[in-house]
Amino acid sequence: MDRISITFADGEVMSFAPAPGGSVLTSAEQAGNALAHSCREGTCRTCVARRPNGDEVLLCVEPAQSGFAAVVPYRRADVSPPTLRRAKINSFQKLSRSVWEIRYRLQFPLPFLPGQFVEATFPGIDGPRRFSMANGPAEAEQILHVRDIPGGAMADYLATRAKAQDAFTVRGPFGIFYLRANPKPKLFVAGGTGLAPVIAMLRGIDRSSAPPLSLVVGFAEAQDAYAIDEVKALATELPLEIVLTADTANQGWSGKMGNPVAGIGHVTAVPLQEGTEAYLCGPPGMVGAARKALRELGLRQDDIFNEEFVHQSPPA
Ligand SMILES: Cc1cc2nc3c(=O)[nH]c(=O)nc-3n(C[C@H](O)[C@H](O)[C@H](O)COP(=O)(O)OP(=O)(O)OC[C@H]3O[C@@H](n4cnc5c(N)ncnc54)[C@H](O)[C@@H]3O)c2cc1C
Ligand code: FES
Repeated sequence: MDRISITFADGEVMSFAPAPGGSVLTSAEQAGNALAHSCREGTCRTCVARRPNGDEVLLCVEPAQSGFAAVVPYRRADVSPPTLRRAKINSFQKLSRSVWEIRYRLQFPLPFLPGQFVEATFPGIDGPRRFSMANGPAEAEQILHVRDIPGGAMADYLATRAKAQDAFTVRGPFGIFYLRANPKPKLFVAGGTGLAPVIAMLRGIDRSSAPPLSLVVGFAEAQDAYAIDEVKALATELPLEIVLTADTANQGWSGKMGNPVAGIGHVTAVPLQEGTEAYLCGPPGMVGAARKALRELGLRQDDIFNEEFVHQSPPA
């Protein structure tokens, strides 16, 4: 029987037999191989791969078939098996009208690549929520930026019950949205709390060999803007251009008006053409529109990495 073959970003090839009735992901696992994944139900896009004809597929829901072949946008060595860790909240606060920050410590370290995320399970909340680390990988204190969704379980927990020292669990690391260490100029486009993994990446960049960097970060309203001082501080250490946008704002807003995709038009520090890498993170609509705009400008498909902050329904 023809085997399934998965080619990694560095050219390494993994091949394994299709498991009857299973997905490509479960077939890989049954053969003792690891592929990047998280939700296993076609929601989070962590398992995205590209077929030889260019079509995207999600390996967790793709039926395992003889002769199936696809390319994944990460190196085999960058997939670590997820680990469960106990954590305790150090502090939490509102950073803007719509963003909470949670600072916490882990009982044991959980190595991750800047840009990756964890599944966090907080007290009294049904099922895990996915959040990207906003701290650099070498920092002891872990940081999450949590969108304050009205009526959301996290918003309710943080506003009414959360206390410093609350215990919770994190499982990870997950994700293929991590900083690729190479000299290509890098454009980051973040919407709302999509800034969290981008800050982790900026914190993790080697100061001695940083390429030209541009960050477009946008918020629905100026009152949602957060972490601007932190980003400006990073720009004193890195060759980093910042373009700040708000869809709507009153007088006094010093950034641009419009969404982050329109904000790409204000970038001058990195060439908007083939040879530049882009990292896109935030709501799916923004990520899709930014990807389309950058492809039209000539960026290569394989140089555009993205994380969509989709919501996964908690288990019934
Ligand atoms: C890989 C990944 C990384 C993520 N990282 C972050 C992060 O760093 N920071 C962050 O704030 N979010 C992040 N998210 C999104 C986050 O996991 C969800 O938004 C979260 O589960 C919301 O939980 P909640 O308890 O606030 O809302 P819930 O109580 O679970 O839902 C409340 C209501 O809000 C809706 N809703 C929830 N989330 C969203 C959303 N994202 N878009 C639209 N509607 C929504 C639900 O459908 C529901 O109606 C990430 C998602 C993924 C897939
Ligand atoms: S693991 Fe496949 S979409 Fe989430």
